[in-house]
Amino acid sequence: MLPQAGVELSTILKNMKHIIIITGAGKGIGKAIAIDFARAAETQNNFNPVLILVSRTLSDLEAVATKCRSYGADADIVQADIADTAQIDKLVSSTLERHGTIDCLVNNAGVGRFKPLTELTEEDFDYTISTNLKGTFFLTQKVFPVMEKNKSGHIFFITSVAAEIAFKSSSIYSMSKFGQKGLVEAMRLYAKTCNVRITNVMPGAVYTPMWGDVPKEMKATMMMPEDISGPLVNAYLLPQRTSVEELVFRPVCGDINE
Ligand SMILES: NC(=O)c1ccc[n+]([C@@H]2O[C@H](COP(=O)([O-])OP(=O)(O)OC[C@H]3O[C@@H](n4cnc5c(N)ncnc54)[C@H](OP(=O)(O)O)[C@@H]3O)[C@@H](O)[C@H]2O)c1
Repeated sequence: MLPQAGVELSTILKNMKHIIIITGAGKGIGKAIAIDFARAAETQNNFNPVLILVSRTLSDLEAVATKCRSYGADADIVQADIADTAQIDKLVSSTLERHGTIDCLVNNAGVGRFKPLTELTEEDFDYTISTNLKGTFFLTQKVFPVMEKNKSGHIFFITSVAAEIAFKSSSIYSMSKFGQKGLVEAMRLYAKTCNVRITNVMPGAVYTPMWGDVPKEMKATMMMPEDISGPLVNAYLLPQRTSVEELVFRPVCGDINE
């Protein structure tokens, strides 16, 4: 955006909003990302995030939005299932109608069904692939042209260490995460020609609702969502000339489900 004549640059920077879509913002890692972006509104000069919080559960989003607003960030709630392309279209068009642009997309929403090979069903397959691959692809496809036109933007993909290493109980999940990594690499080819940053975030085991109940001893070895969200927000806040291409996180004891 070019400064208008007669308007102080400091005023423009102060008023400049960062429109940030975060999928899966109701729980776990996505919730921590939303809260850390909101906290940055309090601590960083001239950083005014508008957080578009997306998931299927309204009550989760309302709680996260309240917390984000308490730090002075703007937060919109969009109840949507990214496995449904019509809902993706509505999410993107309503964001553009309301805010005019999109500066950052955090592709975080993801699901996993963890079972031995022979117990996985067609429903497990469709459920996992439709969110992790179909949803991530079509949302990225819809948002990228906005950034391409702006010659600015940042897309984060929360993939996993399971995008590079397979685990026995994670065959479909790993397929989806290896697939997401393919999309990350394809997007880099488009993004580098138009000043858009792409970051592949690859966590190992993080204690979130995705894991259900875990034994106390196991929880003690796992990472926490804020261990991932803090560095992600810092990567966004770096000058646009610098792209953090990958963030890899592991519990200090290594992968815990190998
Ligand atoms: N936790 C880990 O150890 C770990 C490690 C590596 C990578 N990851 C990845 O990190 C991401 C977040 O995982 P998490 O552990 O934070 O999971 P989580 O606690 O289960 O939270 C997932 C969030 O995504 C939302 N979501 C799921 N499917 C969705 C859909 N189709 N449309 C819209 N929202 C959807 C969920 O809300 P609703 O169900 O209400 O929609 C929830 O808010 C995932 O991509 C996961 O694969 C996690």
